[in-house]
Formats: sequence, C-alpha cells, structure tokens
Amino acid sequence: MSYVRNECDMALLIRNGRVVTAGSDAVADVLVEGETIVAVGRDLAAPASAEVLDATDKLVLPGFIDPHVHIHLPFMGTHAKDDHASASKAALVGGTTSLIEMICPGPDEDPVEAYELWKSKAAGAASCDYGFHMGVTNFDESTPDKLKKIVEDGTASFKVFLAYKGALGVSDEELFNTLELAAELGVIVTAHCENESLVSELQQRLLADGKTGPEWHEPSRPVRVEAEGVHHLMTFAELTGAHVYVVHTSCQEAVEAAAAAKARGVQAWIETVIPYLVLDDTYAQQTGFEGAKYVMSPPIRDEQHQPYLWNALANRTISTVATDHAPFDFKGQKEMGRDNFTMIPNGIPSVEHRVQLLYHHGVTTGRIDLSTFVDSASTQAAKLFGLYPKKGTIAVGSDADLVVWDPDWEGVLSVDTHHMQTDYSAFEGWEQVGRADTVTVRGEVMVRGGEFVGPEGKGQFLKREPTH
Ligand code: URP
Ligand code: ZN
Ligand code: ZN
Ligand code: ZN
Repeated sequence: MSYVRNECDMALLIRNGRVVTAGSDAVADVLVEGETIVAVGRDLAAPASAEVLDATDKLVLPGFIDPHVHIHLPFMGTHAKDDHASASKAALVGGTTSLIEMICPGPDEDPVEAYELWKSKAAGAASCDYGFHMGVTNFDESTPDKLKKIVEDGTASFKVFLAYKGALGVSDEELFNTLELAAELGVIVTAHCENESLVSELQQRLLADGKTGPEWHEPSRPVRVEAEGVHHLMTFAELTGAHVYVVHTSCQEAVEAAAAAKARGVQAWIETVIPYLVLDDTYAQQTGFEGAKYVMSPPIRDEQHQPYLWNALANRTISTVATDHAPFDFKGQKEMGRDNFTMIPNGIPSVEHRVQLLYHHGVTTGRIDLSTFVDSASTQAAKLFGLYPKKGTIAVGSDADLVVWDPDWEGVLSVDTHHMQTDYSAFEGWEQVGRADTVTVRGEVMVRGGEFVGPEGKGQFLKREPTH
C-alpha cells in the first residue's frame, strides 16, 4: 500500500506483540498514522514523532465490537442507568471500541423522531464509535419511507421484537412487512425471538399461583418458547428472503431452530450474549430478591446449556458474542418487581466485561481458540453489519482500533471498580485472568494500564451501508 505521510498525524508503533486476527496469528509490529493502520510487519521503523509501545508477551487484537447494547432505554417510567459517556468508557476499559445500540421506540412514537433522539444522546457523549439498529415496533403506510430515510442516513439494520406483548412486540403482519422491506433495501433484521402470547399466558398463570419471585422468570419463558420464536422468525425470513440475525440466543433448542433454518437455505445468523455463557439459572434462584439482578430475557438457563453454547461457538454455528447490556440498578429499579417478577426491568450490566469473561472462560479453558475469540467478539459483527474491513481486523487501511491484551493480568471484578453506573455487578468477586491493557480508537490511546485516559466524547457515528 502506498500512502502520503502527513507529518501532522500522530503516529503510534506497537512493537513485538502477537498480532491475532480472525484469520492470522504472528508476532509483528503495527504502525499507525493518524486514525489508520499503515503497516503490519516485522522490525518496522518508528517515525520520528511516533509513540512506541512495547507489546512483547502481549496480544495485539482488533478493537472489539459489541453489536447489541441498550444505553438510552426507557422502561416503565424509569431509564437504564448508563448514558453514552459511562457506557462507552466502560466498553473501552473492557477492550470494546465500537457499540451498536438498539433504538427501541414505543409503538406510538414516530420512528424518525426516535432515531434523531437516540442519535442525539450519543453524539458528543460517546468516547468510542457507535451505531444503531433501528427498532421497528409498528408498521403502517408511512413506515417504509421513514425507514428508508434512516437507512440512507447510515443505519442499515433493523430490530424487531417477537416478545414484549403490548409494548415493543410486532404483529405477524408487521413482521412480514418489515422483513419484506428489509429484503428490498438489503438490510439485515436483528430479532428478539420468544413467543409473546405464550410468555404472557405463562406469566399470568404463575402469578395467579402466587409465584411472584425472580426465580419464576425462567419458568415463564421456557426454552421451547424461545425456540418457537426462532422458528417463527425463520418462517417469515424464508417467505421474504430477508437476512435475519437472532439476538441473545440462550439455549440449545433455540440454536437448533436457527441452525435448521440455515441448513435449508434461510439467510440467518446467530448471536449469543456473555451472560448465557457464564451464568446459569441458579443465580436467579438465590434466596430473597437477589435473583432479580440476573433477570433478563430470554432467561439465564440451566447449566446444561452452557457446554452446548460453547461448542456451537467453537464450531462457528454461533457467529457472535454480544452483551445485551441493559443496566438497571438493584435498588429502586430491579426492586420495582419485588412483588411481581414481570415488573423487574430486564437486563444485566455487562458491556465492560464481555471480552474479559469470554477470554477467561473461553480461551484460558480451551473452549475456544484465539481466532474464534476475535472472530466472535469483533470480526463477525463487523462483517454482518457493514463495518468490515474498516473495523474488525488489523490490516493496512483499517481504522486503528487496537487492543493490547495482557494475557497474564489477574484481578477481580467488582461494582467497586467497574465503570458502569449500576449499583451492582452480576460478576461480583469473580477472579479473572487477562484484560485489555491499552486500547486505541482510530489511533488515539483511550486506555492505558487498564485505566481510561480519554479524551471523552470523541466517538464517531458508524455510518453503515446495506450489506446485500
Ligand atoms: O433482558 C433483556 N434482554 N433486556 C433488554 C431488552 C431486550 O430484550 O433486548
Ligand atoms: Zn431482547
Ligand atoms: Zn410461531
Ligand atoms: Zn437487547
């Protein structure tokens, strides 16, 4: 590659690290000028102005991408606790350099107004790069033109909920219309899959039996209810030709439903999220109300699902590992559901620790290799959502979003040290090996020695094109 060197550009040379991408693994130097990687190779000369970082015995990885987060999230008169300033800082400390947030307008809200609102919350506040999936929560004659505008603006993916009856969930007619439009526009549709009528019915029966605690959340949304939602989505994807991405797949039955559709030619991809890989339903079954900290949907499952999910990740049936970061405090927010588990705000704060947990529980245990680690937590998201090869890899011409990973670091996760704004950690006291030591976003060092060093608010909007 040839390039004209701009003397004003800051330069950074990361020397002698083990550079791992989804498809390569070798000791090399990485040279950055301005926002871009300009060379990868052995014994690169440092430009006079360059900062030189020694990465001997460390891994050099592409900036990680979390393709499923909630930051601005109104819920039952309250809001999730993070804003873009805190969520992006937490993400960066954990090695995540790009976030894709779900825009979730109420069914009566105008999509364009919601889109502008969500964008305005991030602009100037996020310290990492950020994009959106546009939630479609109703569909009438005016919807196609509005969604086309949003796609033209660079938000080239949709989100639908087959769950949350009476709130965000779409009808079958709306689902069909949304997928048909997505197929026409060449944008992928991300989908939360659970059969909402079954959930609603099971919830009412449990409550009527006096089963009101957080331990009843899982039984109200059993694995077959999720698998049915996946199967339902796949039927619609098959009829419309839309590309679909099943978010937060929690169990074997749901993965199998998606994999069966893929096998018959449906254009489908599967995401899981870190809580399902490392937590099991005993956390929601704790005595008292502690279990509310672990209420998310689909629910955290029986531990028997974990080996299946890890294996599906290792054999790449599952494409991506995201978080579904949805941060609510225990005090005052999760507590809203003290007498009724259906009123517990759903979600587990995890944007900060996804990569670290995946490394510790996946790589150090041998469940996944480094290539799968990078692929599932960065590269696949970039490819599926139109960011590759600008993001998701280490190559000449790519954005210099880089993570110098210390594989030997040892420490403990805790609410006392995390950067998320929630009053609890779902992983309190967990001992970890490995963390992001140094993190850059487009060439700028944002994290050193595991500490956020800023600057704040310079994250850029990820403008994405239709992918197919
Ligand atoms: O529990 C969850 N998943 N919370 C956030 C909303 C959603 O369903 O993605
Ligand atoms: Zn969801
Ligand atoms: Zn169905
Ligand atoms: Zn979500």
